[in-house]
Amino acid sequence: MMAWTDRHCRYFHRLLAPHALLYTEMVTANALVHGDVAHHLDFDAREAPVVLQLGGSDPLHLAHAARLGERWGYAEINLNCGCPSERVVEGAFGACLMQDPERVADCVLAMREAVTIPVTIKHRIGIDRIEDYAFVQRFVSVTASAGCETFIVHARNAWLSGLSPKENREIPPLRHDVVRRLKLDFPHLKIVLNGGLGDVAGIVASLAGVDGVMIGRAAYQQPFLLARLEAALYGGALPSREQIALRMAEYLRDYLKRDAHAQVRHVVRHMLGLFHGEPSARAWRRVLSDARILSAANDAIIGQALDAMATRGADQSILPGFISPSGSSAALI
Ligand SMILES: Cc1cc2nc3c(=O)[nH]c(=O)nc-3n(C[C@H](O)[C@H](O)[C@H](O)COP(=O)(O)O)c2cc1C
Repeated sequence: MMAWTDRHCRYFHRLLAPHALLYTEMVTANALVHGDVAHHLDFDAREAPVVLQLGGSDPLHLAHAARLGERWGYAEINLNCGCPSERVVEGAFGACLMQDPERVADCVLAMREAVTIPVTIKHRIGIDRIEDYAFVQRFVSVTASAGCETFIVHARNAWLSGLSPKENREIPPLRHDVVRRLKLDFPHLKIVLNGGLGDVAGIVASLAGVDGVMIGRAAYQQPFLLARLEAALYGGALPSREQIALRMAEYLRDYLKRDAHAQVRHVVRHMLGLFHGEPSARAWRRVLSDARILSAANDAIIGQALDAMATRGADQSILPGFISPSGSSAALI
């Protein structure tokens, strides 16, 4: 998810869900052809397996970008055919590509020839007011014939004019039945359901009749859901939120040491929802989102936020001057 699932977020989510397949934000093929490749593609091996999502519609550019993705160690390449933003539509990729499955098939073929890892597609169930099942069925059929075997389906239409990207994730009606019908029609393909999933029981139930689920906003806004889901699906002990927070403090410490441009907020902004639903969640969020505290903070801020929760908002203890300059927080580890 753009501006959300960067490498720091993925490292955090990997701690919560060791079995999940994680995705990058969409990276345009052009950015990899013309831009700073390492900036876009570098990631920590401990995040693996990670899927690189590409945006684009030029088979040659996409093939080049996919090749780079494989070289960088990504597990799969995913082509975005679901993003409705105007910028993306002007560039003739994202959801508007659903109108041209033959072009998407050419892109898939070019990428498959360039890499040995799987090439997958993420798409919607239709565009604008096309509610006809035959539209999405043909899209899957044509692109599957180019060798795409996995489809992640956001179970809503994308309305290409009149709605913001945010509204396009909320207003077009959610139709999980269309995704299940795709699985019935294409039993040999892997069909992954996406859209509106947000609680463990609902997600586990949604797995019936499809090959997997993708969780977007709920995973970001209530990340501990991932740990609960991991425990429900794969067993094993549920970690505590505090344990996860302390492991992120170690990660933050390494990041601050390693990267001259590192900033505390790059990491902690993804962690605001860790205590979602807990009585002291506000104290946690307040420390980690306070610009004054963040500007003077080091890795000890995570311990400070845990302390603030324990004392429920003891403002005195979280003033910047109280943060240990060494960043050590031995008492917390
Ligand atoms: C902030 C934000 C950024 C997103 N960026 C992308 C993106 O880069 N690529 C993509 O395929 N979907 C993107 N999405 C859509 C989600 O992947 C997902 O399809 C959508 O939110 C519906 O799933 P959910 O109800 O589980 O959130 C984004 C969603 C949000 C909220």
